[in-house]
Amino acid sequence: MQEEIIKKKREIIDTCLKNGVLISPKLLEIKDYNHISKLFELLKSKHTDSAVLGLELGRLIEEPQPEKLAEGYIEKTGEKVKVIFSHKEEPKKRETQDFADYFNNRYKAMEKILKQHQELKNTISLNKIQNKKEKEKITIIGMVSDKQVTKNGNMLLMLEDPTGRKRVLVNKNRPDLFKEAKDLVMDEVIGITGVNAETMIFANSIVWPDTPSSKELKKSEQEKYALFLSDLHVGSSKFLPDDFEKFLRWINCEAGNEQQRHIAKNVECIFIAGDLVDGCGIYPEQDKELSIKDIYQQYRECAELLKQIPNNIPLVICPGNHDAIRISEPQPPLSRNFAAPMYELNNAIMVSNPSMVNISSSANFAGFDVMMYHGYSFDYFVAEVDSLRNQGGYDRADLIMKFLLKRRHLAPSHLSTLYIPDTKKDPLVIEKVPDFFLSGHIHKTATANYRNTTLICGSCWQGKTSFQEKVGHNPEPSRVPIVNLQTRDIKILKFGQ
Ligand SMILES: [Fe+2]
Ligand SMILES: [Fe+2]
Repeated sequence: MQEEIIKKKREIIDTCLKNGVLISPKLLEIKDYNHISKLFELLKSKHTDSAVLGLELGRLIEEPQPEKLAEGYIEKTGEKVKVIFSHKEEPKKRETQDFADYFNNRYKAMEKILKQHQELKNTISLNKIQNKKEKEKITIIGMVSDKQVTKNGNMLLMLEDPTGRKRVLVNKNRPDLFKEAKDLVMDEVIGITGVNAETMIFANSIVWPDTPSSKELKKSEQEKYALFLSDLHVGSSKFLPDDFEKFLRWINCEAGNEQQRHIAKNVECIFIAGDLVDGCGIYPEQDKELSIKDIYQQYRECAELLKQIPNNIPLVICPGNHDAIRISEPQPPLSRNFAAPMYELNNAIMVSNPSMVNISSSANFAGFDVMMYHGYSFDYFVAEVDSLRNQGGYDRADLIMKFLLKRRHLAPSHLSTLYIPDTKKDPLVIEKVPDFFLSGHIHKTATANYRNTTLICGSCWQGKTSFQEKVGHNPEPSRVPIVNLQTRDIKILKFGQ
């Protein structure tokens, strides 16, 4: 074991050198093999924004503390909010087999969704293709394990299923199909219809899991509103207290015109999609941009602000990558240790990232399913997918959300986020199509309707940081998207300049 640890440490040093990252000797003093292996996985991925890595990296791979989750109806808020899914796990040692199980579970879940498509009713497994004749029509489902453009300019994919692998060729002379194929990302699971050839399949169409076009646009019987916030970043010197104060005055019906006060009076629920505080040690030299340097004090201050929201309005809160909790997804609900004052808010409902809650149900109405995901994987897809970048990248969170809904997965590529391999099911698969999909992380509001799922990315309450300047984010702070649940109309209220 000692030798293996030394070998892993060498690999870490090599990876760091290749990426121009300096590593603190203290980090290499870790003696636990599992810990050091996870660290290596983390470094291999692109999620190390730091130029110098120190011991605080341990936070990123910490095992979660079991949290008591809010589950079932929340009685104190008048049964307005029901938690459908919030990840809960027992701390356990992860084995290599867990990763295999995790990918198999994901494959099975995606296969089930894909099989609902008429054109994929008669698929065959990849090891059975050898029994098929040349030029015979063929339908398969597989995970994309490679994607390359050949010398002739065609696209060559490698698809895998639990029985084998097969090459699939997308011809450049089919411009529409070729354009679609350019959006394919590693590890996503798709269907292919095509024609059998000796060594490969010639693709005729690509089928994505997608959401059904027949989804109903649900509307509540009464005029009520849902509010979508994210990325408060309390503790940052760029936090905008005056704007948040304006928001608090409005939600307390102390500001705004008659119509705006009417909306405030009828708010049914407020969602907050992560990055409640700015955190500590999230990016290099962050401490220079913090007005509150203590994480406990950041949450205390955050709770003081949220306490001013009328306590008959439930606050559904999930964490983000700046919160004091491991960043591997699913992220457990906010920590009871670091964020204790938040748990004292008697209208707060803490859920994991991602999570699904249902609001506004009644005897005659099924209510709205709201999926919350902070959006950590978005960075990867903006960087990797040309069509997303060409259509606005970070300015169009709605297109990124649509991209993920179409793939029915919140982080379809292995490298798009850090994750904990759950052996029972993949919690990042979008099994149930939500009525609302809320995200944050981008710091700029975007809203859209995609096949009757309302996509909303929250704004933020923080001015532009030097880090955002560097990575090309264009924050648009202090906006609050609100949805009239009776009409499904969306309005964006501005509390800033
Ligand atoms: Fe944020
Ligand atoms: Fe974030």
